[in-house]
Amino acid sequence: MKVVQPIRTKSPTSSTLVASSAILIALLSFSLHAQPKRQRIPNEAPQSAPTTPTFYRDIAPILQHHCETCHRANGIAPMPLQTYAQAKIFAAAIAADAKNKSMPPWFAVPNIGQHFSNDPSLSQTQISTLTAWAAANAPAGNPKDAPPPIRWTESWTIPQPDQILPMTQGVAIPKTGDVDYTYEIVPTHFSEDRWIQSVEVLPSLRANVHHAVVYVRPPNSDWLRHAPTNIPFTADDLTDPADRRGAHWTDADVLLVYAPGSSPDEFPATMAKFVPAGSDLIFQMHYTTNGHAGTDTTRVGLRFAKAPPPKRVLTLQLTNDHFVIPPGVPDYRVEARGTLPNDALLLSLFPHMHLRGKRFEYNIVLPNNTLANKAHPNATAPNPNSANSNVETLLRVNYHFHWQMSYKLADPLPLKAGTELQAIAWYDNSKNNPHNPDPDAAVRWGDQTYDEMMVGFFDVAVDGSIDKKKFFERNTKPSSTTQ
Ligand code: HEC
Repeated sequence: MKVVQPIRTKSPTSSTLVASSAILIALLSFSLHAQPKRQRIPNEAPQSAPTTPTFYRDIAPILQHHCETCHRANGIAPMPLQTYAQAKIFAAAIAADAKNKSMPPWFAVPNIGQHFSNDPSLSQTQISTLTAWAAANAPAGNPKDAPPPIRWTESWTIPQPDQILPMTQGVAIPKTGDVDYTYEIVPTHFSEDRWIQSVEVLPSLRANVHHAVVYVRPPNSDWLRHAPTNIPFTADDLTDPADRRGAHWTDADVLLVYAPGSSPDEFPATMAKFVPAGSDLIFQMHYTTNGHAGTDTTRVGLRFAKAPPPKRVLTLQLTNDHFVIPPGVPDYRVEARGTLPNDALLLSLFPHMHLRGKRFEYNIVLPNNTLANKAHPNATAPNPNSANSNVETLLRVNYHFHWQMSYKLADPLPLKAGTELQAIAWYDNSKNNPHNPDPDAAVRWGDQTYDEMMVGFFDVAVDGSIDKKKFFERNTKPSSTTQ
């Protein structure tokens, strides 16, 4: 197993927190996903027997379904928890982290908004089982009681990819300092259109990747058209003015976004992402440094749909890029709104902020006098804490910079054309924010993590014949920044 650098760095000045330059935006268009499908398993551990819990009978099933996606050989966590020997030495820490809910990582505020299929949280029974096991000195029990091991495919969380597209040339990362956003254009050589059922992004140097966005550039796109292929470059390497601008903003389709704790996309058979024949993948990498030089070669694993599905998945976003967060303010609110130009099925939500991020919320703005729980039977009542009371909250997260996750709706939500969506971000620019690199600074939008971002990505499924451009065609012009 490879020991990786812990992702939750304690020191705000650590260089692993320093991001790099340019874009992000459209970039992140959503799709970070937090937990793979193997995770969705029983919510309850075997009912706590009157006897002391044992590893094989009671603990292994919990670790398999709530922890192994990260705590396995080649996983993102520092130690695997797949065998008795591995788990026993961490028994006390496992019990403590389960009890204080720092593991498994999950930041949605409970009982607000939607239910999420990738919520890995432990039930109270499971927490008690882990605690009782640790307190009893972590007994092994009978190996015959053990569930069959989960067979992970190499490092992939998705089943064996049909095709793996690596960066052609690895990217050298220095020991220290900021690294500008680094791009690499990799041709797919697809001779026919492809529908992507599952996709996973796998950096080789995970400890250095703050996020990665893989875009699809169709053959007719001018985006970064004069930039080199098959070698890494930054905006500064580009001479063509349009290309330089393109390194800072694009509305290209996103295939997948990767960030620590994110999981792959695995769509149901009825929907997939679309990659036209002859497309290139454009990797946009945000590397951070951590005292060790190295070379990253990120790979993308793809599983293709057997037949064109009825629905196409698009990654959209609500963005506000013209805010100024005053120095010292502990709870600064920034909002973005947008109206859906067409019907769409809401699949997932993925908030993105930087070091001053504190909370993030997605709402549906209700027409006057509509009762939230009438409009959407699954929803909670209007949220009294939101500055706008006439909303139905979909998700509220206590934001954690080191864990950028997507939140996948357990029941995708059909939204009608004309639905107004609202994203609200709160920032803590006070000195009480342990991640704050400079409480005296007024903070604006920017690529580096000491700048801020406000992006509410969301994935929707639309009719299979509709692309992003078509989706935004409507009678009235969009009044806001949904794109
Ligand atoms: C999404 C990935 C992920 C999942 C799921 C996850 N962990 Fe972790 N875990 C990590 C990472 C990364 C670290 C190291 C960095 C850190 O401490 O946050 C870690 C650290 C730990 C630690 C060590 C903390 C310390 O004191 O150093 C324990 C114990 C732990 N996890 C237990 C669990 C248990 C038990 C589960 C399941 C119930 C679980 N984790 C689920 C990613 C994960």
